[in-house]
Amino acid sequence: MEHTEVEKPETLDDLIKILHKIFESDNINVDEVQDIMEAYQSNPQDWAKFAKPDKYRYTRNLVDDGNGKFNLMILCWGEGHGSSIHDHSDSHCFMKLLQGQLKETLFDWPDSKLKGDMVQKSQRIILENKVAYINDSIGLHRVENGSHTEGAASLHLYSPPFQTCQTFDQRTGHTNSVKMTFWSKNGERTPFETTVSQENN
Ligand code: SIN
Repeated sequence: MEHTEVEKPETLDDLIKILHKIFESDNINVDEVQDIMEAYQSNPQDWAKFAKPDKYRYTRNLVDDGNGKFNLMILCWGEGHGSSIHDHSDSHCFMKLLQGQLKETLFDWPDSKLKGDMVQKSQRIILENKVAYINDSIGLHRVENGSHTEGAASLHLYSPPFQTCQTFDQRTGHTNSVKMTFWSKNGERTPFETTVSQENN
C-alpha cells in the first residue's frame, strides 16, 4: 500500500497535536496514522511521566482522550508480562514501541463448531519505534514482553475508544467480556478503582 509523506513530530506533544488534526475527519487513513506514529522517535523525556509500571501485570496509562475520537495510552510491560488473547471491539488499534521489544501473536477467531486449541496465524517481534496495526477483521492477538531482564513500554491508539473487549482462552476458544481500566490518567495514579488489565490467562 502507498505510504504518504508525513510531517515529522519532534515530541510526543507534537504527535498528539497532529493526531488531533487527523482525527477531526471521520474517515481514518490507517497508513497515515501508522506513518505519523512511526515518524516520532521515542524520547523517554517526553513520556516517562505517564509510564507507571506495576510489579505484577502490565499497566494501562491514559495520555490523551483524543476529544472522544481516540484514546492514546502508554502500556508498561514488566519482564514476562503479557495480555490475554483479545479482540478490539470493532476499533482500530495502533501500537508503537517506545522502549524494548514486544512479541505479538496473531490468532484466527475461534470457530464455535470446532473444539480445541485456537489457531495461531503468525508471530512477530515489534522493535523500538515500529508501529503495528490490528483490527477485528485481521484477527485476535496476544502481546507479550518475552524479556526476563528488560521492561518495555508501548504507545497505543484505539479509535473509537472502547471500555470492554473480549478475551479468549487459547485452549478452548471460550470468551469472557472484560472491562478495561486505567492504572493512571494524565500521569496521576487512578484512585480507588479496581484496575484490571487482561493479563495472560
Ligand atoms: C494489547 O494489545 O495486548 C494491550 C491490550 C490493552 O489495551 O490492554
